[in-house]
Amino acid sequence: SASLSVEIGSLRLANPILVASGTFGYAREMAGMVDVGRLGGIVPKTITQAPRAGNAPWRTVETTAGLLNSIGLDNDGIDAFIEHHLPYLGQLASPAIVSIAGRTSEEFTQMAARLSQYDEVGAIELNISCPNVSGGVDFGICPETCRDLIASVRAQCTKPLLAKLTPNVARIADVAAAAEEGGADGISAINTLLGMAVDWRRQKPLLGNVMGGLSGPAIKPVALRCVYQIAQRVKIPVIGIGGIGTIDDVMEFLVAGATAVQIGTANFNDPTVSMRLLDQMPAALAELGAASIQEIIGSLQPKS
Ligand code: DOR
Repeated sequence: SASLSVEIGSLRLANPILVASGTFGYAREMAGMVDVGRLGGIVPKTITQAPRAGNAPWRTVETTAGLLNSIGLDNDGIDAFIEHHLPYLGQLASPAIVSIAGRTSEEFTQMAARLSQYDEVGAIELNISCPNVSGGVDFGICPETCRDLIASVRAQCTKPLLAKLTPNVARIADVAAAAEEGGADGISAINTLLGMAVDWRRQKPLLGNVMGGLSGPAIKPVALRCVYQIAQRVKIPVIGIGGIGTIDDVMEFLVAGATAVQIGTANFNDPTVSMRLLDQMPAALAELGAASIQEIIGSLQPKS
């Protein structure tokens, strides 16, 4: 049968189906329902140096066009993560790709250096794209600022490094190219698209933080466009994220240039969705007559 394995820098993934940060907890929560070790990789909820309480309610709103969230990076901090979650993640067959967010370059660099010391950490994903906290996208908007951040982290970090990018910019491929220049091993795209919801009768915003990040099928075309533009621009692997819930979605991202994908919002409807996608991968590859994932990555033909 076809080989499903892919590589992100020195990290080898058994298959290209990963779960996205913030949508799968720290994996332990899902273990009763999902064979988590089958996943190509697990990206736990973003951690920060200090514990954070997150934003005021409401923090999530389901709109007709997709899910809006403004969680505000609620997490228990890196010490608690290393003590309580990393040992569990480390004994799974799937690599943990630890998502981190910092307010400064020093904070990002210190966290990445510390995580580099643990065998349980497969890779690090730099969240430079959270739309819901002050400064959350500071390193994800300006290419030069992004490059300098990645270079600083790279110098202290021995793990494969991914940069997770925001779609809330005019030219995402410029930011991706800068991340590659800074030494990133891969690009994760996209984080949520900034939006809002209002209750006109109460004349109030629905989210406590007024605005929030839109996710789910509503943003899939935006994500696909971003992945395509980035893959055209950089040589490092791109991980596609945004509204993926079916095998057709997965295949669309792969042919558009993604090396792997992350399943996000679809996990809220059904945490086992990735297992089904995995089961469906071989038949989808066979439809294209492909013997490996590698053969179909970026295989999109120009429209004639
Ligand atoms: O939509 C998002 N929500 N993206 C992030 O990066 C973080 C998260 C949050 O905690 O607000």
